[in-house]
Amino acid sequence: MRVPIIAANWKMYKTTAEAQDFLGKFSGMVTAGKIEVVICPPFTLLCAVAALCRQSGLKLGAQNMFWEMSGPYTGEVSPRHLADLGVHYVLLGHSERRQHFDETEEDISRKVKAAFAADLTPIVCVGESWPERLAGQTANVVQRQLASALRDLDPSQVRRVVVAYEPVWAIGSGLPAARNDAEQAALELRRQIGEQFSLKVARDVRIQYGGSVNPENIREFMGSPEIDGALVGGASLNAESFAALVSSAAQAEAL
Ligand code: PGA
Repeated sequence: MRVPIIAANWKMYKTTAEAQDFLGKFSGMVTAGKIEVVICPPFTLLCAVAALCRQSGLKLGAQNMFWEMSGPYTGEVSPRHLADLGVHYVLLGHSERRQHFDETEEDISRKVKAAFAADLTPIVCVGESWPERLAGQTANVVQRQLASALRDLDPSQVRRVVVAYEPVWAIGSGLPAARNDAEQAALELRRQIGEQFSLKVARDVRIQYGGSVNPENIREFMGSPEIDGALVGGASLNAESFAALVSSAAQAEAL
């Protein structure tokens, strides 16, 4: 049984006071049911959010990290630093990191391995650009990205990985993928894991959809047996809207 997981990606938004305000309101409003809810704030808020997450049964996630455990890497944050703060999950390979910070597939693969070395669970983001979609390359692109990210892991690690299928063109655009397309991509990703590892492993991996998910469309995505939750940017910044989104996902799951 895959436990659905909804993660809030706060990107480079919110101050400490804003995060405290959000979490104070959110925990009183949400009915999460069986759904695992993860908050991924900016690095600077991890400490403050960790304490609030513990009180309200939320999991803590980071948005990035470096692949070395320690060393002369001024300005970087290591997997050990994250684990030390009680972080459970780490987003890796988000398209904004690939695009603006030139993260390569090799970098992402190193980070995935480093995450496990520090006992963090990676949420590996994959997704095609608009030109790639138009060229009919979606399956190839996302399978290649995932194969590279999972390279050299052992099956027990792969089982724990969360995959976020996020078409680049759907992120922040207000234009989500159609449910059937998201489902198709999830199927291709599961097929990839099946070929690279085994069908048994593939069945255990949780695959989220991300890209313009909101409280209205979440039910549709949760209605797909292949989609195990969502990675949410814009709609996770407001406590009311994120609570409505999670509650609606929990209702859809209960059906
Ligand atoms: P969005 O972002 O929900 O604002 O489209 C999703 C993401 O970047 O993870």
